[in-house]
Amino acid sequence: QKLLHEILPGAEVLIVSNREPYIHNKEGGQIAIQTPASGLVSALEPVIRACGGTWIAHGSGTADRETANREDKIDVPPGAPSYALRRIWISDEEQDGYYYGLANEGLWPLCHIAFVRPQFRQSDWEQYRKINRRFADAVIHEAKTEDPVVLVQDYHFALVPRMIRQSLPRATIITFWHIPWPNAETFSICPWKEEIIDGLLGSTILGLHTQFHCNNFFETVDRFVESRIDREHATVTSKGHETMVRAYPISIEWPPAALAGQPPVERCRTEVRQAIGIAPTAKLAVGIERLDYTKGILDRIKAVDDLLTRDPSWKGRFTFLQVAAPSRGKLASYSSLREEALALARDINSRHGDAAYQPVRLVIQHHESAEVFKLFRAADVCIVSSLHDGMNLVAKEFVASRDDERGVLVLSSFTGAARELAEALIVNPYNTQEMSSALAAALRMPPNEQQERMRLMRQQVREWNVYRWAGRMLIDAAASRQRQRILAIAS
Ligand code: F6P
Repeated sequence: QKLLHEILPGAEVLIVSNREPYIHNKEGGQIAIQTPASGLVSALEPVIRACGGTWIAHGSGTADRETANREDKIDVPPGAPSYALRRIWISDEEQDGYYYGLANEGLWPLCHIAFVRPQFRQSDWEQYRKINRRFADAVIHEAKTEDPVVLVQDYHFALVPRMIRQSLPRATIITFWHIPWPNAETFSICPWKEEIIDGLLGSTILGLHTQFHCNNFFETVDRFVESRIDREHATVTSKGHETMVRAYPISIEWPPAALAGQPPVERCRTEVRQAIGIAPTAKLAVGIERLDYTKGILDRIKAVDDLLTRDPSWKGRFTFLQVAAPSRGKLASYSSLREEALALARDINSRHGDAAYQPVRLVIQHHESAEVFKLFRAADVCIVSSLHDGMNLVAKEFVASRDDERGVLVLSSFTGAARELAEALIVNPYNTQEMSSALAAALRMPPNEQQERMRLMRQQVREWNVYRWAGRMLIDAAASRQRQRILAIAS
């Protein structure tokens, strides 16, 4: 609370994101609440919980959908409400075009180097524009003041900042792009590149995870939009409006809420090993995320195969548990990943395992954050092998879960997190041997080395937590509001 009220006293806060922080599903006549597997939600929810305000998001659960009217708002978090959730209802046809189509078959593969061809269809673009308009209108309708602070999240809403700016010229619009920004040549593939960039340049601040992504953005703007770029002050001026473009590496809350009430590490180790049927002394590596082709899940399973092939002494003594939350399953690239992962796990288990020993456990199922943290605490190693990732908060959550200062993080060099967590074992996920060697080193790492590395990583995540991420953006926003006020007086 101090965060917002000291930096921007009296400001009204609105968040816009596709994913909602709490999904309300109808199960057997009851309403079951799920927290989604989303880096965006893990980062933003503690911030708005602390500041209060209104979160506008797509209502994705099965409850309330038919009964809720367009103005419907509920208080959350359940049990201890501190902010309002306004859900926007989207038809299946709109969702196919806006979310599955333009956002996830177009912009997602465009911005990630994963060698999946982006698909751009005119009809998807029309739905994307329509839904962006709907969310912008919701912000305009919800805003009680002329100059709210609007936090626009991600590639689902590139057009929203400009749309809001047109109706609320004095709004402070902080847009955060949660995924990488590609180079100008790659971005030029997008048939609506000018409109997307123009939409984003309605923001007061545009945040990306790394300076490298900011540089890519400047080059893209330079190539496709009439504007003035001031690299020294990190600004772009277009249509008479200045946008600050800066790197704000996203993070997690510290201490994480999911850590409260966790059993001691020893108990987590015993209970998890018992639950999955492995020996109490067996080594356990985990991978936990959405089932997405950018995450390098197949690559890490191949590294496990390589480890067991090169050093069969691990057989029976080591298990890899992959927990993958189903995601975007309607898309062929995601459903085929699911089939490939299951087939790969079966193949490895048949070659290296037997009736009693299955080295790869693949669980395709959503897990709530308390369960995820328990698995992190039970593990000897956590593998994050993304082929490309803006930041990757799973890596930071693993570190935050280990208050015993043990456990080893194997981390892809293609994540934003690798720039901050230098004490992880940094790997190239395309190099199977390198990854399996890192896995072997992680499994053999002496406790004192684990402690030294974990202590430094924990210090980093503690200091550079999500409140600092939000605080830095809000400080920059406050400076921009101050400049605006001075300019208004001067003119
Ligand atoms: O962090 C990137 C991101 O795409 C978020 O925008 C999103 O909430 C999360 O990953 C999960 O994806 P989805 O919302 O499509 O399930």
